[in-house]
Amino acid sequence: MIIGIDIGGTTTDIVGLKDGKILSPVSVKADDPITSAAGALGKFVEILDLSLSEIKLIAATGVGSGQIRNKLLGIPVKKIDEFDSIGTAGAYLSGLDEAMVISMGTGTALVNVRNGMIQHWGGSGVGGGTMVGLSRKLLNITTIQTLMDKASKGRLGMIDLTVGDIAGGALVNLPESATASNFGKVSDEANSSDIAMAIINLVGQTIALLGISAARAEKVNDIVLTGKLSILPLIRKVMDGVGNLYQINFLVPKHAEFGTAIGAAIKAQKLL
Ligand SMILES: Nc1ncnc2c1ncn2[C@@H]1O[C@H](COP(=O)(O)OP(=O)(O)OP(=O)(O)O)[C@@H](O)[C@H]1O
Ligand SMILES: [Mg+2]
Repeated sequence: MIIGIDIGGTTTDIVGLKDGKILSPVSVKADDPITSAAGALGKFVEILDLSLSEIKLIAATGVGSGQIRNKLLGIPVKKIDEFDSIGTAGAYLSGLDEAMVISMGTGTALVNVRNGMIQHWGGSGVGGGTMVGLSRKLLNITTIQTLMDKASKGRLGMIDLTVGDIAGGALVNLPESATASNFGKVSDEANSSDIAMAIINLVGQTIALLGISAARAEKVNDIVLTGKLSILPLIRKVMDGVGNLYQINFLVPKHAEFGTAIGAAIKAQKLL
């Protein structure tokens, strides 16, 4: 069995790869890289009732992987480039050989995949970390679940300025509901639910538009989403709204939230 570990900015993810099957993805909070990698490995081995000797190789990726040495708990470690991992995962999980893959984690990374070629296209600091940081400072909310619960009752019209607000109606190819300015109309009557939804809208719309712009520039039709943000229903709703406007679909394949770890394991297997 090969293990993929993604030591990210917020979480450390681990998955097993055996006979082409993805086994028991688990996530732990990313503390220092070695502690969280060893902790994730311990949790994984416990859940699957494995012995460490059954693990042939650990494929390590993510911002923290640079601090892992050549062995972890006696198992050989192969470092895999994070963008290679993201691109490999996007293609493998979606079954596509051409796509713009977006890793939506603490930050946002865009990777273009074309016939086995993987290229880091760009990225943005607007991501999950932005959502968590703004929620903490503006709302005193520290968990994703509380933020989502609050946001579900939020009214964007209390915070965001729309095309309709400025133009009095639709513009050539923009409906009146399109956002003209995120946080551009903060009302004195806005409550914490409204702000929660506006934070999610800001992050989701920014990532969606970045992805669409990249896909258009590279003339690719499909955008694949991975990372923990990709499976949050409200983020998906916001992104699908932007997708509808530009007539592009966002694909979220099974196991998308563990994409980077899966991609590392698959890439390492190919290199064996
Ligand atoms: N259960 C969860 N635990 C932690 N973060 C979550 C969870 N669900 C959603 N999130 C959001 O996802 C973000 C982390 O995503 P993910 O774990 O994919 O990133 P990462 O790999 O740690 O970071 P990066 O890839 O940018 O280095 C958090 O910032 C948070 O906004
Ligand atoms: Mg990540």
